[in-house]
Amino acid sequence: MTNWQVGQEHVMEITGLSHEATGVGRIDGRVVFVPETIPGDRALVRLVHLKKSLGFGEMVDLLRESPQRKERSCPHALTCGGCQLQHMDYAAQLSWKRQQVVSAMERIGGLNVEVLPVLGMEKPYCYRNKAQLPLGEVQGELVMGFFRKGSHDIVDLESCEIQHPLLTRLALVLKRTLKELEVEPYDEINHVGLLRHAVLRVSFSEETLMLVLVTRTAHFPARTELIHRLTQEVPELVSVAHNVNPGVTNVILGPQTRVVWGEPYLMDSIGHVQYAISPGSFFQVNPKQTKVLYDLVREKMQLDGGETLFDLYCGAGTIGLYLASQVKAVLGVETFARAVHDARYNARLNRIQNAQFYQGKAEDVLPKLLRLHGPIDGVILDPPRKGCERSLLETLIEAEIPAIVYVSCNPATLARDLARLASGGYTVGHVQPVDMFPWTRHVECVALITRL
Ligand SMILES: C[S@@+](CC[C@H](N)C(=O)[O-])C[C@H]1O[C@@H](n2cnc3c(N)ncnc32)[C@H](O)[C@@H]1O
Repeated sequence: MTNWQVGQEHVMEITGLSHEATGVGRIDGRVVFVPETIPGDRALVRLVHLKKSLGFGEMVDLLRESPQRKERSCPHALTCGGCQLQHMDYAAQLSWKRQQVVSAMERIGGLNVEVLPVLGMEKPYCYRNKAQLPLGEVQGELVMGFFRKGSHDIVDLESCEIQHPLLTRLALVLKRTLKELEVEPYDEINHVGLLRHAVLRVSFSEETLMLVLVTRTAHFPARTELIHRLTQEVPELVSVAHNVNPGVTNVILGPQTRVVWGEPYLMDSIGHVQYAISPGSFFQVNPKQTKVLYDLVREKMQLDGGETLFDLYCGAGTIGLYLASQVKAVLGVETFARAVHDARYNARLNRIQNAQFYQGKAEDVLPKLLRLHGPIDGVILDPPRKGCERSLLETLIEAEIPAIVYVSCNPATLARDLARLASGGYTVGHVQPVDMFPWTRHVECVALITRL
């Protein structure tokens, strides 16, 4: 058996990709993870970190390219932690994502369900409507961009091919103006300095921008002049908010956000519905694919117009309002108060009268709503990555809801929750993945679950 020592070099065949999109192969039966490689590559690999039965290597030389390889087109591809699959052909990415879902269903859920081919994008570029950019200092210079892979070093943003070009334009003007005004960036290590993050959002339908400036302290003397200069140079900017986050934390936004200039909302549309989005409210990051996703939810629900639906984890009411014209009533539940406010506002904006929204944790509110409204025809679940609380799934099982459509951005928690529902008497239909995040390892899924 080969010596298992740091610094040794081996020729390796890369045979798989981990769920974090790192290439995987074997040396003498032991699994080795090699960043920047993909299945089909043959590489000279240096071992850099070893455990008993697995190791981590770095690619010294690419000896044979996988047929799935593609040229990296982004200048930040090797440093930025945003796109993990920049070097993999788009069709190959989609089939890998499907395989990730299959494997989560089998290994985590113990489920044998059909996973359909991933619905990808025709042009998988410029799709993001939001950028969350950390700020810092490198050699006395302000930098703003993305975290370097696996670290909190900041890669200074110059361009980004997955975000809407208006976001990049605003980011570059903002960075220059912050330097001109000598605004102090935040220093994460010593918890000093001022500006922590800039959160930029763009409306695809209106081509307008919103900016949220996140500072450590409330005192931000240059703010007025900064906004003045930005709005002169970027006329698409219609709303600026200030969020104060004094915590020693990785969470981007602090508890309070105040719109300090312009419109209170960013307006955008998905299909026939217009949405007003507050600075802190969740809105899907890929509006083109959001329509695909919401149409799928509608299709899976097989609506006949007479249904009462729950939209749990409803954010700004987005899915429920999308379906409202085709059902009798929609009842949405969301924990973030401002998003509930947005959902109610969005119902009025679209003259939708059959939608009501409740604030609270879905697991707490659902039992009360069921007592209040009696039998329900269907439930939409769209939880955050950690999935649903077990108590919520138990309430659904007990209430014998006929149809549940589960929208998930995390195949692992989806598989776990589907297995719980299946053990409570539900049948899981096929799972349809949708590519909301091309060039990244992430994948969204929609699953229909029905009562036996
Ligand atoms: C993935 S987003 C989905 C939002 C919405 N369905 C959409 O498509 O825009 C998840 C939402 O769940 C909310 N949330 C998180 N935990 C929750 C809970 N326990 N109960 C209700 N809502 C929750 C978040 O604030 C967020 O708005």
